[in-house]
Amino acid sequence: MAKKSFLDKLSDLTKIQHRAAFTNVDKHISQLNFETHFAELAAARYSCRSFSDRELNPDKVNKILDVARLAPTAANRQPVHVWAVTGADALERLHKVHAAFNAPAVFMIGAKADEAWIRGYDNKNGAETDAAIVATHIMLEAADLGLGNIWIGSYDPAKIADVFPETAGYEITALIAVGHPADDAGPGPKHEARKALGEFATVL
Ligand SMILES: Cc1cc2nc3c(=O)[nH]c(=O)nc-3n(C[C@H](O)[C@H](O)[C@H](O)COP(=O)(O)O)c2cc1C
Repeated sequence: MAKKSFLDKLSDLTKIQHRAAFTNVDKHISQLNFETHFAELAAARYSCRSFSDRELNPDKVNKILDVARLAPTAANRQPVHVWAVTGADALERLHKVHAAFNAPAVFMIGAKADEAWIRGYDNKNGAETDAAIVATHIMLEAADLGLGNIWIGSYDPAKIADVFPETAGYEITALIAVGHPADDAGPGPKHEARKALGEFATVL
């Protein structure tokens, strides 16, 4: 039997967790440490920049979209729309303006400022923050399913708008490329480079 990757093992654990949640099987729940599971997922996730040709099961795309839908948004305004670019025609359109690491699925996250909550004190519009939470859900759910993924922020929004007229009225705030990691995929040099806890955070 092929050796399972760490992410595959994590995905198995999540399936048990989901089953336990839906069937109320106490014995499963008692075996799980939910806190550790998320910390392990957060540590195992890395930006994947090399994807295999393996097709992505549409069920996984739908699962990712459904988890994205659960993201919290300010005042529950949900000023976000996601376009899952997976079909040959849509991927061809995207590739005219961005290679997106040739991933089989690219989630485009759009924010609609005029539907978002606005903070009364300083008029700060919450659309981008809400969209970032949705994008994070997509990234982490993809990792939880054992899929490689990367947040792409470097793209020309005008060109994306040009090839995807259906996104009119939304600002595309992130592209998340998702697929099965290629054999040579792995964390890049910056993955381990995190500030020390004392520099990153202050407990007051
Ligand atoms: C908002 C945002 C934008 C990013 N844009 C890009 C990008 O355009 N191209 C790229 O290769 N990586 C991009 N990344 C990935 C980061 O470079 C990566 O998360 C960081 O170096 C840490 O590595 P890790 O994700 O493997 O832990 C982006 C990440 C974030 C959160």
